[in-house]
Amino acid sequence: MRVILASSEVVPYSKTGGLGDVAGALPKALARIGCDISVVTPRYTGFGKRHGDVVNHETGEMIFDDLRVPFAGGVKYAAVWRDWMNGAPVYFIDNHEYFGHGYIYGSGNFDVERFAFFSRAVIELAKRIGGPPDIIHCNDWQTGFIPAYLTTVYAADPFFARTATLFTIHNLAYQGLFDPNLLPKFGLGWDVFQYGMEFHDAANAMKSGIYFSTAISTVSPKYAQEIQTPEFGNRLDGLLRARHDDLIGILNGVDYHEWNPETDPHLAANYSIHNFDGKAACKRDLLEKYHLPIDLEKPVVAIVSRLTSQKGIELITQAVWRMLETGAYFVLLGSGAESYEGYFQHVRDTMPAQVGVYFGYNNALAHQIEAGADMFLMPSSYEPCGLNQMYSLKYGTAPIVRGVGGLDDTIRNFEPTTRQGNGYKFYEYSGDRLTEKFYEAIMAYYDRGTWRALQRNGMREDFSWERSAHNYLNAYHRIVAAKR
Ligand code: ADP
Ligand code: GLC
Repeated sequence: MRVILASSEVVPYSKTGGLGDVAGALPKALARIGCDISVVTPRYTGFGKRHGDVVNHETGEMIFDDLRVPFAGGVKYAAVWRDWMNGAPVYFIDNHEYFGHGYIYGSGNFDVERFAFFSRAVIELAKRIGGPPDIIHCNDWQTGFIPAYLTTVYAADPFFARTATLFTIHNLAYQGLFDPNLLPKFGLGWDVFQYGMEFHDAANAMKSGIYFSTAISTVSPKYAQEIQTPEFGNRLDGLLRARHDDLIGILNGVDYHEWNPETDPHLAANYSIHNFDGKAACKRDLLEKYHLPIDLEKPVVAIVSRLTSQKGIELITQAVWRMLETGAYFVLLGSGAESYEGYFQHVRDTMPAQVGVYFGYNNALAHQIEAGADMFLMPSSYEPCGLNQMYSLKYGTAPIVRGVGGLDDTIRNFEPTTRQGNGYKFYEYSGDRLTEKFYEAIMAYYDRGTWRALQRNGMREDFSWERSAHNYLNAYHRIVAAKR
């Protein structure tokens, strides 16, 4: 099985969120089970000293500087760099005009143009790095033009005669809307627009991926169901219902080389399901980092998140005061909307002995919070998969989640009488429900035996990429067979 996976972020080279984690870990897991996989991503340059995104393009070597990409009525050139991720080659498309501005994502028409160019470059690159791929695996709207190009511009190209596409939706809310008048510049015709991109007077790159791909997947079984409803479908639910025979949900995995309290190099001390001493040391270290008084008896409630409405931040603003009334610590690591940052700064200023905030991106601190906290909040309004709840489980930190998308698929509510379950889960989008779940968690927390049982249930869970990689490989085989 020969696969090319295209993604706008790939850890450890670039990341703004979970997409980068997935595109960095899945290829390694696929390579381990014998899949011939190559990754393609942009080479982002032009960063100054201060920037929010994580970008590390210091590695790799340039393999050619003359990739010809038909675009904008002529030909544009890209250099191509290559690095290796545990046996899987990663190719970087290097074009200063589109990726040299010091950011991963911008906005508006120009952003869509950047990724239309990237999509076309992926296809041209495929012809230069070996035989025809069986699958081009696309991820989110930034790669949504690839299936459109393949089924139109390249339809008669014998090189791609047997190539199928899988389009994976990581977040349906970001769709890549643009002015349809740009289509000629992208080398696409009006028919393409009318069939597969038209969206309320705009053109839509996400719709293109869904419409033109051989098959579609998303990152949890629950989200695959949800996006077929008006509530979660972001006005694409009709199209998704029409394609439901070709739509599957495959849960993301966790890279346990990165996220494992037994080996994590970011922690003050390591620990395991057999010995929790290190977790107490991590809690002490975390409180020190946030300049909070040290009282290891009190629970630490934490959140690590992009501060956007998706993540249910509003519910936390409703619940946080009652959480603090119980004496708990609250620590936050996040970046995003200024209004949320201002609000949590206000909470911190009001209760400085119980609250710690850090605005920005900090990977080491994300690890230290998973280890040092007792409870982790994810009351998302929607959540395609979510990774932090799975990290929390491994670190013996109880996730308190809303039962949507991947959160519903991974978290089972803990019942103290039977000691079954791995976290806390509520359904109604409400600050009161979140507060109630927090009170339940507090009751369990102060009963050491019960809490240990909950922690162990979580730490025993196995969401390794191996299982997900097998699911993807099976899907690739089915898609190729269907195409032929
Ligand atoms: P999403 O992709 O929607 O943001 P996920 O749960 O899938 O949500 O993935 C988020 C990833 O980004 C996790 O690896 C998480 O640890 C990381 N992350 C989010 N915010 C920050 C931050 N401020 N600092 C460090 N890591 C962060
Ligand atoms: C998106 C989703 C998140 C998911 C991630 C990786 O960013 O918001 O739920 O875990 O993609 O698939």
